[in-house]
Amino acid sequence: MAVSESDNNIDVTAFRKKILKWYDKHRRTMPWRALKAQTPTPYHVWLSEIMLQQTTVVTVGPYFQKFITKWPTIHDLASADKEEVMHEWAGLGYYARARNLHKCAQIVAWELDGVFPQEQEALKKLPGIGDYSSASIRAIAFNKPANVVDGNIERIMARLFNIHEPMPDSKKHLKTLAGSLADNHTDKPGDYAQALMDLGATICTPKSPKCLLCPVIDCCQARAKGCEAELPKKKPKKAKPQKMGQVYWITNENNEVLFLRRDENEMLGGMLGLPTSEWKEGKHITMPKLSVKHSFTHFDLVLQIKPQTQAQHEKGIILPENDPIWVSHSKIRELGLPTLFAKVVKLMK
Ligand code: ADE
Repeated sequence: MAVSESDNNIDVTAFRKKILKWYDKHRRTMPWRALKAQTPTPYHVWLSEIMLQQTTVVTVGPYFQKFITKWPTIHDLASADKEEVMHEWAGLGYYARARNLHKCAQIVAWELDGVFPQEQEALKKLPGIGDYSSASIRAIAFNKPANVVDGNIERIMARLFNIHEPMPDSKKHLKTLAGSLADNHTDKPGDYAQALMDLGATICTPKSPKCLLCPVIDCCQARAKGCEAELPKKKPKKAKPQKMGQVYWITNENNEVLFLRRDENEMLGGMLGLPTSEWKEGKHITMPKLSVKHSFTHFDLVLQIKPQTQAQHEKGIILPENDPIWVSHSKIRELGLPTLFAKVVKLMK
């Protein structure tokens, strides 16, 4: 095993008891959470857990409300137009999540009688549900023991067990340690998972953890050694590759702007966007004058904006393969554009 100063000596029963007691008093209210002593709605739990992957609680709030108002049941979401779902998702990013969400809704509604499976293996067969979401849905929606591990919980485990091996190499080890506190424990598994999430968000924070307010300070091996703020250690990140290209702002004689729906298999697939050139790898030495910058998970992109008239465009500068959609300036706001293109619109209007 890699270097670690853990002696793994945690009193599991005491740890769970303390954190559950703390959660009873300090649980955060969230639109997707059942109130104390109420039964959660699996549709809400699933929807929120998919939205919360890679997106913050604050950002997700209004999106979650919009979705459940528009589609109150999983059957409503299943019957929605895919384009409408993509439109409502715009701005949340990671658009494959929205496509999978819609597919998953259709399978659960139409093939499983609207009932989510409770076992992780069965949950993982559904589109968009992986290790993390299958565990969180099983724990939170069904109150069944599951090892829920997200970034917050990794940080708590690194401190609790005083693990100095850096992330991401330590992920597997941290998951095993989290499992030693979660697996097969049937006392309020849903509350336990959410208690860890809340502890990570409010007390065991990345910077300046508020240890004096922590219900499990006595269990924390990093705190005992005074090194909690240094953990988890992180391997230096490699710089992201940089890509460049051009984005076309094409207007016709009515001053409408040309948009296209993007192919499913490309970045931002299924979303509406402005036409662009290929995005090619290259260094952004200087930002071109009229340009936007956007960071994706695996690369940073700079697109230079090229305003053109339809006549110039038709001379063959680029030929979009998909159906052109001409949109008047006042209607652009309603399109539901991914953030990259919303940035271009903001500069051009
Ligand atoms: N992050 C992911 N899932 C969450 C949840 N259910 N509550 C709070 N934060 C979360």
